[in-house]
Amino acid sequence: MIHKTEAEIALMKEAATLVSKTLTEVAKILKPGMTTLAIDKICADFVRDHNAIPSFYNYRGYPHHVCASVNDVVVHGFPNDTPLQEGDIVSIDMGVILNGWHGDHAYTFILGEVTPEVLQLVKVTKESLYKGIEKAIVNNRVGDISYAIQEHTERKYGYGVVRELVGHGLGRSLHEDPQVPNYGKRGTGPKLKENLVLAIEPMINLGSREVYTEEDGWTVRTRDGKPSVHFEHDVCVKRNKALILSDYSIIEAAEKANTNLNSSYY
Ligand code: MF3
Ligand code: CO
Repeated sequence: MIHKTEAEIALMKEAATLVSKTLTEVAKILKPGMTTLAIDKICADFVRDHNAIPSFYNYRGYPHHVCASVNDVVVHGFPNDTPLQEGDIVSIDMGVILNGWHGDHAYTFILGEVTPEVLQLVKVTKESLYKGIEKAIVNNRVGDISYAIQEHTERKYGYGVVRELVGHGLGRSLHEDPQVPNYGKRGTGPKLKENLVLAIEPMINLGSREVYTEEDGWTVRTRDGKPSVHFEHDVCVKRNKALILSDYSIIEAAEKANTNLNSSYY
């Protein structure tokens, strides 16, 4: 596992913050009628205007700049020309390379009115991300993060925790060791040391945990067609309290100010 220097952590914070700023641009303008392809272009242009590279494009052949995962799409949804509708939930996942360092995170937006059960799924998935982050401290193990997320979602609410996809280390590469599953046992897995950077990303289904990948080789959907929520933060392991490199506060401020988005759960 690669542990970063303080100077490298500062650079990674800049990369993560650029992703947060990009998602903030999305939060400002998202509304029913907009297409996820339009969002893809806005994000790619914004990142390039800030002297960075959208890192997902061409990553293992991925053909777009963001992942836009609507409703029953869990992750890796292709941006497309279908207008978003009132009642949709959409996760926008974006990666950048800035000065050689990766930022990679995601946020799920709610367009207008949704059922109370979907609102709760969004709320609890975001909460579970922070429960996991609380465990990202020195001398804990990866399994402590995993367990905290699973505990809050599967055991407490009966949601489906996706097994096939996991969080990961982050640095000069988009995916570094260790893998960070959203399910697992306390006290197991690699031990966490200071300045390990992790992308922690719960993918939580309202119904069953079963998923499948579409013919396009990327789009992951729930088997039962029920919605799924995805949040992701870039986090640096520290002694007493993890340092979150990405910044939801600016995204949330824009989300609150946008009357087309539903932020009533927090
Ligand atoms: N956040 C996702 C991940 O860490 C996004 C990868 S999409 C890809 O795996 F297109 F870049 F693969
Ligand atoms: Co990721």
